[in-house]
Amino acid sequence: MTDPQKVLTERVQQALAAAFGAEHADADPLIRPSQFADFQANVAMSLAKRLRRSPREVAEAIRAELSGFPGTVEVSGPGFLNITLSDEWIESEAGRMLADPRLGVGTITPAQTVVIDYSAPNAAKEMHVGHLRTTIVGDSLARLNEHLGNKVVRQNHLGDWGTPFGMLIEHLLDIGEEAAVAQLEAGQGTEFYQAARAKFDGDESFKLRSRVRVTTLQSGDPDTMRLWHVFMDATVRYFNKVYDMLGVTLTDADIAGESMYNPMLEKTCDDLQESGAAVISEGALCVFPPGFTGSDDRPLPLIIRKSDGGYGYATTDMAAVRYRVHDLKSDRILYVVGADQALHFRMVFAAARMAGWLPDTVSAEHVQIGMMLGKDGRRFKTRSGESVKLMDLLQEAVDRATAAIADRDYDEATRGEIALAVGMGAVKYADLSVSHDSEYVFDFDRMLGFTGNTGPYMQYATARIRSIFRRAGLDPAGAEGPIRLSETAERALGLHLLGFGELISQVTEACEPHRLCAFLFETASLFSTFYEQCPVVKEGVDEETRARRLALCALTLRVLETGLDLLGVPVPERM
Ligand code: ARG
Repeated sequence: MTDPQKVLTERVQQALAAAFGAEHADADPLIRPSQFADFQANVAMSLAKRLRRSPREVAEAIRAELSGFPGTVEVSGPGFLNITLSDEWIESEAGRMLADPRLGVGTITPAQTVVIDYSAPNAAKEMHVGHLRTTIVGDSLARLNEHLGNKVVRQNHLGDWGTPFGMLIEHLLDIGEEAAVAQLEAGQGTEFYQAARAKFDGDESFKLRSRVRVTTLQSGDPDTMRLWHVFMDATVRYFNKVYDMLGVTLTDADIAGESMYNPMLEKTCDDLQESGAAVISEGALCVFPPGFTGSDDRPLPLIIRKSDGGYGYATTDMAAVRYRVHDLKSDRILYVVGADQALHFRMVFAAARMAGWLPDTVSAEHVQIGMMLGKDGRRFKTRSGESVKLMDLLQEAVDRATAAIADRDYDEATRGEIALAVGMGAVKYADLSVSHDSEYVFDFDRMLGFTGNTGPYMQYATARIRSIFRRAGLDPAGAEGPIRLSETAERALGLHLLGFGELISQVTEACEPHRLCAFLFETASLFSTFYEQCPVVKEGVDEETRARRLALCALTLRVLETGLDLLGVPVPERM
């Protein structure tokens, strides 16, 4: 364990127990970064009241029990403990971290099975910019969990079933399979949907055909199923182009769309009704989970089967919970979905608990994704008010990145690789660096900036360290300790890096990739200061200094690379 804050927490807890009795061993010592030392412990202030002693006295008593502590402890002000770690301790922990292939990142034992429901675009509509964010955040959560040794089951809950498919299939027949496939593969799902919709609204005979088609689809008629597959395969090929470009880890094997649950829906309803969890209300089958009321104070229903016998979004989600708990054997289920669906998921989880389908040992969490806004502060759209085509958006990011690096002296192929990495890195990092539930403004200029908390800045910081090793003619993988931290900037960087392992655990537990971004940004900033103040491969730097600084560079590089990989942000070799 290298995380200083965690080490200090334990040491101070031991001191608390020794000074005031074992019943204080679990008290939070309130270790915080300090202006006057590395950390301060504020526990004496809160404990003093309970012990009826002065905070200073309490602080002194704690300090007396901290002998043998690797650093200095001072009591200051009304009763703060100012804690400064010794350089030797930081150096030896940093050396251990450099020698550790996992960089001090632990593994979760026993490993958990974590089901992550993410991306989930709708086939009957264009994959919109909101799905970009659920895709990117979900993918990072999958990478983080796998890195900690958990078993991750990705579930792409595609919107690939329901009444709109009647009219979509009829429209496909009207324009011909070939033309339809070409249009869908090109990402023109919205146009396809709108054309079908227009006919549905304006043409009675088309409407009738569509309604009949819904019934034949639901009855599993082989010809209709074949047409559905033609439609879906073309649509999924487009989704895959987007996933490829983004470098997300989703594959066809992770598709578990709404259609997959279709055969389970009848039994889902029957079982809920038999167990008494669901009741008929105004002709519909409903669950009334306790604590949910509408504006009129009446219990709010989760509608499992409509009065016309049709199934809906909630039916599928109830079947999905059962499948994920029972068949996938999940310990934790993460739903990375738009924040506007918060009520839906709270009700689904409550209903599933009522039915006994979601035991207390399994946690179900809605990782709420905030809306992406345009510069006007409204939902992100094109000028003409249509939703933005994802592929166009990604291509624009690459085009802008291409322009930004136009002056670099690389061959065409290298330049193409860098532009792709910078463009995708910018878009992905922008999505990840703000807390997942907050709304944010999609702004190319800001996300593609080479300064500030952006993808390109992080990529640049990484490429810069690699270039130091290239100039030294060395491989960073071969860098060895010991690490020495005599300069202030070296010490600050070294101390910061020690927090990496604990941070990864916390970020994974809390589903907060933005905190990893903040940590990496701080890493890059501290490195920048170090590099300004401490020459590494310049002339006049003696060999020993050079070696120990290269070791610190190598440790920084590995933290940045590992962190960016866990975010899914690509890192070009050069920039
Ligand atoms: N397709 C849905 C949408 O676009 C998201 C599905 C999320 N997952 C779920 N199990 N409901 O809003």
